[in-house]
Amino acid sequence: MSTATMKDTLVRDLEHLFVDMSQTKVIQRNPTIIREGHGLTVTDIDGKDYIDALSGIWVVNIGHGNQAVIEAMQEQLKRLTFSYPVGTVTEPAIQLAKLLSEIVPAPLTTVKLLNSGSEATETALKLARQYFLQSGHPRKYKVISRYLAWHGATMGALSMSGVASLKAPFEPLLEGFLHVPPHSCYRCPYGLAYSACNVACARVIEKVLEWEDPETVAAIIVDPVMVAPGVLVPPKEYLPIVRDICDRHNVLLIFDEVITGFGRTGQLFAMNTFGVVPDIVALAKGMGSGYAPLAATVCSDRVAAAFWGDAEDHVEFMHGHTFGANPLSATAGLASITQLLQTGMLENAARVGAYLQQRGQDLYKHPIVGDVRGIGMMLGAELVADRTTRAPFPAGVAPGQMVLAACKRRGLIMRGNPNWIAFGPPMITTEADIDRIFEIVDAGLDEVEAEALPA
Ligand SMILES: Cc1ncc(COP(=O)(O)O)c(C=O)c1O
Repeated sequence: MSTATMKDTLVRDLEHLFVDMSQTKVIQRNPTIIREGHGLTVTDIDGKDYIDALSGIWVVNIGHGNQAVIEAMQEQLKRLTFSYPVGTVTEPAIQLAKLLSEIVPAPLTTVKLLNSGSEATETALKLARQYFLQSGHPRKYKVISRYLAWHGATMGALSMSGVASLKAPFEPLLEGFLHVPPHSCYRCPYGLAYSACNVACARVIEKVLEWEDPETVAAIIVDPVMVAPGVLVPPKEYLPIVRDICDRHNVLLIFDEVITGFGRTGQLFAMNTFGVVPDIVALAKGMGSGYAPLAATVCSDRVAAAFWGDAEDHVEFMHGHTFGANPLSATAGLASITQLLQTGMLENAARVGAYLQQRGQDLYKHPIVGDVRGIGMMLGAELVADRTTRAPFPAGVAPGQMVLAACKRRGLIMRGNPNWIAFGPPMITTEADIDRIFEIVDAGLDEVEAEALPA
């Protein structure tokens, strides 16, 4: 079958697939069908190359086609791909749990292996509830999270999320989930300016706790850098304040490091970058770098202790997913994390991440760029119709998606929401790669400005 005929067939057959968060009919008009990936480059079915400046979607942190990971997985594939998950364990699962316990900050010690970010945040929620149930605080069940945050697509994770458009089709969601405004210095929900604001966005959480009664609240979940609203980096005081509130009210702090983990902030975890350690952390995406679905929830020794007992104590964590501790996925994670730690990628991420942030400032030469923000290997730019007033583009004009399309035509894959664009290249990216990325982004922004701004 010729490539053209095969593509026609695939495009027609696409109607059998729900594409993530997309209208399949729209994708079908001009689908990008990716076939191969090597390093920073992915190639579509027509042979067109793209720079993957988003690591898939903040996932492929070690780059595509890493030979060491492929070989480790091939070995495991030949040895064992599955074992009875209730009552048996495999070597890679134990080794991965041990490795994770060594690389996360103390006192995080104990690991539940999973498949996806949604499972990891949902598991964190269930751990928090069962923890309080069996440690003398059975009324503690509520969870506080932030508006505009994304914690995943399953009903518990969605209930913690704060993106109205992604929740609406599934409402009513679960009971006991409270939301507070996010830390958005560019568009402060209180109309205040940092630092005169005294970080009101963090301090309001204590008020909400008091009004709800702390004895009913189990956890506060935060993604240390909020990506869903366009890469919002918290003021340096924010996470320490939240940690302190949790400590004083016996509330568990959960970090959703699904995106920020495994080098994305320029250090191994946002926990390292911001110097704050939660009681529970959710990990996914970069953990297995996309070589296999893989995620984990890691809890502190204090939380784990409540689940450590004899059979007659009935304190075991009554939770699991069939594929959670899959030996092939665990092997992918072991090999991928080892590559990240032992081949200089983490150091590269710190150096090139600083360069990415520096080059990000150049985006201000484009009149539609209102705010550039980021940390390490994550960068976002909010696009506005008027930089002085910060007015967004009118409804129906989606400059972020226009830039995304313009860049894709030029061979660059990045993130684009209606009003922002974002980049999250792999940890193997060089300064020269960043320059190539910005060449294309500049051209894409020029094109969109010519189209979207009045002459
Ligand atoms: C911060 C954050 N948490 C959780 C999730 C859910 O992860 P998954 O899509 O793997 O279920 C995502 C997904 O993008 C995310 O960005």
